Amino acid sequence: MASDESETLVQEIDGEYQHGKAAFVKGVRMPHVFAYQTGFKDFLENFETRQDDVFIIGFPRSGTTWLQEITWQIFNDGAISKEPIGHRVQFFDEAKFPHTTQPDITTRPSPRLMKTHLPFHAVPKGTSDASRCKYIYVARTPHDVVVSYYLFDLKMAPLTGYSGPFEYFADMFIKGTTYWGSWTEHVLDSWKHKDDANVLFLTYEDLKENLPSQIRLIAKFVGKSLTEETMERIAKQCTFNEMKKNASAYWMMTRDGELPNYLRRGQIGGWKDSFTPELTARFESEVLSKLEGTGLQFGSGQ
Ligand code: A3P
Repeated sequence: MASDESETLVQEIDGEYQHGKAAFVKGVRMPHVFAYQTGFKDFLENFETRQDDVFIIGFPRSGTTWLQEITWQIFNDGAISKEPIGHRVQFFDEAKFPHTTQPDITTRPSPRLMKTHLPFHAVPKGTSDASRCKYIYVARTPHDVVVSYYLFDLKMAPLTGYSGPFEYFADMFIKGTTYWGSWTEHVLDSWKHKDDANVLFLTYEDLKENLPSQIRLIAKFVGKSLTEETMERIAKQCTFNEMKKNASAYWMMTRDGELPNYLRRGQIGGWKDSFTPELTARFESEVLSKLEGTGLQFGSGQ
């Protein structure tokens, strides 16, 4: 793996298939379209956080778009918007993507809501009280993540280049060589900080199983006082079906056109349709085993 400093363009040619091209930033394997010679590394190093910034963090396909919408509605008293989600809660990692249509994050008025797939250690941190901001992390059962990620990447192939079979993608996921690296390292990096006052650690499964209670938690965490009625309304507006109705808001916009909708199936346990018994066993021994003793639990039962 490349070191922090090298920021080399790495073309992965593992066997017959390749997962696009990657550029390493702070040791994180990012799509080269975002991070190779785009200025992202400098942007990341020099980014100045503000006390009222909120970062939504999660490994790709863990429910980050969902949290973007929930958090935006919490900040906007349950309003609904047709404006693309990336314009309201910006995708930080795409800040220097040459074809982005997102507004400039650095000049945005506060409070800035941002989403990133970077692991916690690489996300900008304030060092003084005036710049110490908040982080909401979302983790999801890795089996569902890998299936969702694979199907998403197939559709994103024009941008990021992966078009191989699922088995090969799952193998890369287990080895931590898909974009944004190892799932286990990603979740454990945030899990270590779950008790920090400025970190809220959530799971996709809890959001699915009890959205109103998670909305109350998030509102309290970000210091928004909303009526019960508003929070109940946000919960109704952020179900999978309700968000799907507003599909225009969840397409990724680039100057070259539109890319796939972020909402696909929105269920827990759909992975069972795609996993062989061998892959389930590999996830037990090579992914879930790394969580043992940490207190963080995901299982093949989900
Ligand atoms: P599936 O592909 O399993 O459907 P991210 O936004 O982090 O990339 O995560 C995408 C996953 O979150 C997709 O999973 C998507 O359908 C799911 N998702 C988005 N909004 C959701 C919602 N309101 N309820 C449940 N799942 C949602």
